[in-house]
Amino acid sequence: MAKCIYSILDKAVSTYNLDKSEILYLLKTEENDKIFSAADKVRKKHVGDKVHLRALIEFSNYCKQNCLYCGLRRDNAKIARYRLETQEIINLANKAAEYGYKTIVLQSGEDLYYTINKMSKIISEIKKFDVAVTLSIGEKTFEEYKAYREAGADRYLLRIETTDEALYDKLDPGMSLKNRTRCLEDIKRLGYEVGSGIMVGLPGQTIESIAKDIIYLKSIPVDMAGIGPFIYHPDTPIEKIEGNFFELALKVMAILRLLMPDINIPATTAMETLNPNGRLIALQCGANVVMPNATETAYRKHYEIYPGKICMGDSPKHCRFCIENKIKSINRNVAESKGYHRSNS
Ligand code: 5AD
Ligand code: SF4
Ligand code: FES
Repeated sequence: MAKCIYSILDKAVSTYNLDKSEILYLLKTEENDKIFSAADKVRKKHVGDKVHLRALIEFSNYCKQNCLYCGLRRDNAKIARYRLETQEIINLANKAAEYGYKTIVLQSGEDLYYTINKMSKIISEIKKFDVAVTLSIGEKTFEEYKAYREAGADRYLLRIETTDEALYDKLDPGMSLKNRTRCLEDIKRLGYEVGSGIMVGLPGQTIESIAKDIIYLKSIPVDMAGIGPFIYHPDTPIEKIEGNFFELALKVMAILRLLMPDINIPATTAMETLNPNGRLIALQCGANVVMPNATETAYRKHYEIYPGKICMGDSPKHCRFCIENKIKSINRNVAESKGYHRSNS
């Protein structure tokens, strides 16, 4: 029997498994609404209506890496670099905890300034605020990951970006897919909740490779998957692309929800950058997490991974209440728990 959207979606919602050709069918079809509504139902059934908020603290925009697509790459001399001191980071996290956030995400470029000692101190101090701590600070050695886990970090975010090795080598000079997967394996082995994900719309990326990315994320398996559309940054060497990858990124996200029904899936900032309602749309197509910015306003404009990032002129407090109101406007509520994946099942 020839495959059709209904048979594939039926299979997905009853087995949570699709083979590569079926994933490709979904990626290629124009019947996106059917996929989105199936993902929304699966989200509701498995993780419910609560939305988990994660406070994002962008504590340093220094980066030793040179990813072709990213505004923080080391060769971008046009951005003003900043880094926050230990106590400033702890204070910001404290403030975020007071605003009711139950998870603090510490994100930076790959900045060697933060030694194991500094980072461990930051983590252990923030853990005193009764929050979950997520790190998003890039590729490290097993020993570093181990030290941070022992200091109290609960989760780690490291997007694989793409599993297409040729594309990876081209876009991430000096880095390798092999080391990236090693990092994710170490993170998993150390008992962190693992967050990964990809960018959708990278120049040279194929639909075929996105299908493989989805299969890879399921194989880890991830506890959290963040999917963001690629957004061209003029201060990078990457070729300019036409097109807006919001819809395709949304579809990749929805397919992940179908295949991994109880994981945490954020409605990403990059989605909202391309669509003024992007996060609320994503929350209705499979997502159950939002990561509002909790960085002080003055630093935000310098953390320009891609242009047009939302919330640039806003304060941590403003974003906290803005997002809660948005969430309520679609009849959903902010969760009060820490939102571990393991407690979803
Ligand atoms: N457009 C969209 N997302 C980007 N990232 C980096 N550069 C871009 C870009 N130009 C994403 C990467 C990285 C995350 C922090 O930001 O996926 O993991
Ligand atoms: Fe650095 Fe991450 Fe940007 Fe790559 S994507 S240049 S590692 S901040
Ligand atoms: Fe930052 Fe709405 S979440 S302004």
